[in-house]
Amino acid sequence: MKILFVDDDDSIRDLFVLVLDNIFDQVQIVECTSGNNAIRRLQESSEYDLIISDFNMPNGTGSDLYDFILTEKIKTPFVLFTTESHQSISSIFPKFHSRENLDAQLAKNFDRKLFRSFVIEFVSKMVPGWGHLASQDQVPATEINYSKVRLPYFWRFNTTLCDVYLRLSDSGSKYIKIFNQGDNYSRSDIDRFATKLNVSNQKFLYINSKDYDRFSTSFYQTPFLIFDKEKILGQQEDVIVTTQAIIQEIAQSAGISSTAIKLSDESVNEIVKIVENDDFKLKLSSILKRVREQKDYLYDHSYLLSCVAAAICLHMDWTYKETIRKLSYAAIFHDITLDDPILAKVDNLDLEVLRKFPKEKIRKYQKHPQEIADMVREARVFPPGVDTIILQHHENAEGNGFPHQISPLKLYPLVAVFIIAHDFINRLYEVDFDNGKYESIIAAFQKRYNTGHFKKPMEALKKMYSSS
Ligand SMILES: [Fe+2]
Ligand SMILES: [Fe+2]
Repeated sequence: MKILFVDDDDSIRDLFVLVLDNIFDQVQIVECTSGNNAIRRLQESSEYDLIISDFNMPNGTGSDLYDFILTEKIKTPFVLFTTESHQSISSIFPKFHSRENLDAQLAKNFDRKLFRSFVIEFVSKMVPGWGHLASQDQVPATEINYSKVRLPYFWRFNTTLCDVYLRLSDSGSKYIKIFNQGDNYSRSDIDRFATKLNVSNQKFLYINSKDYDRFSTSFYQTPFLIFDKEKILGQQEDVIVTTQAIIQEIAQSAGISSTAIKLSDESVNEIVKIVENDDFKLKLSSILKRVREQKDYLYDHSYLLSCVAAAICLHMDWTYKETIRKLSYAAIFHDITLDDPILAKVDNLDLEVLRKFPKEKIRKYQKHPQEIADMVREARVFPPGVDTIILQHHENAEGNGFPHQISPLKLYPLVAVFIIAHDFINRLYEVDFDNGKYESIIAAFQKRYNTGHFKKPMEALKKMYSSS
């Protein structure tokens, strides 16, 4: 069963995705925060068994999505899940119900039981091959005591408010407790379980059904997992890098949602505080070393990028706070749809390493600057220019980057800072942050970055390392 679930409200998606996970034994749910986002997903592939969509959303309403479904003659059953009444829908959205028997409307409230029985009835009638679902309108025997929770869901938090279990085998009914109520856990704890689960093809952890009922009835206010910043031990940057991992996870499952935006604001404020500190220029190399020890390129390089780009700006005497903020937002989001650190490190489409990936992943990679720039622009909350930095972050000094092979003279000036900082960080990874190799990196960079908007930031980078 593959479901497209579209709603701009994070808590609505959180609540009902959990319900959907527990209706079907095997289910893949793709979440979107807007009609336009959902249209993009359908353009990639229209092979869904069910679409559930809100009506009122910024950046493409449920009716825009429905129009697309009509135009493309997509035959997937569609549930309009909205607080609008039937009466108002028929006046503001008269086209709805034009596909006989494939469309339905469900009143949106927080009643999870009602949602569950509606979906079961609708799917058993409308989705070919699912007629049996109605007769099994009960939780499968093995799941009576335990409810499924998708693994990535745990990444966003670090403290559990109830016991958490691991199922010992795909079909087994044995569960072992892995976290006690109140336990703190880290991303790496969850990744450890993920490795175990991948072996057996499961993608869920479990909580007691009693807890599931208790939390999901009041889920809106009381999720059973929380993100407690106080519980992250270590440096300020651990919080930023952990937050980056959470933003990345949210964006990959649901685009740039309001939670992702809120977390990015918090990170950017933290980064600006670090940069504004008097000894930031002196501390930069120790920041690089500390973060690099965490060794998760995807998250770490985004944070390092904010720091190096900010340091370059300071050495050019660009101390305007808004500039640092723009670069930091761009750093947080620039690779947000990529889930593979090896792919994220690639900066040239001709590289041999690309060929090892499946075609679909390569296509996603080629599109990521454009796709993420669109998402950021549509969110309409980020400072102007952030989308352009993201769009151009794989252009280069030779004018043969992607997606647009822009000549270095025509690039957005701020992106030159970003590109140099990004390239520099990649080289640092290559030499394993060995101080002794910095000089040769800078020498090679001086040859590469000697045109247009690259000249000034290049001088600044050189100054940074001759003064340290
Ligand atoms: Fe990157
Ligand atoms: Fe990238």
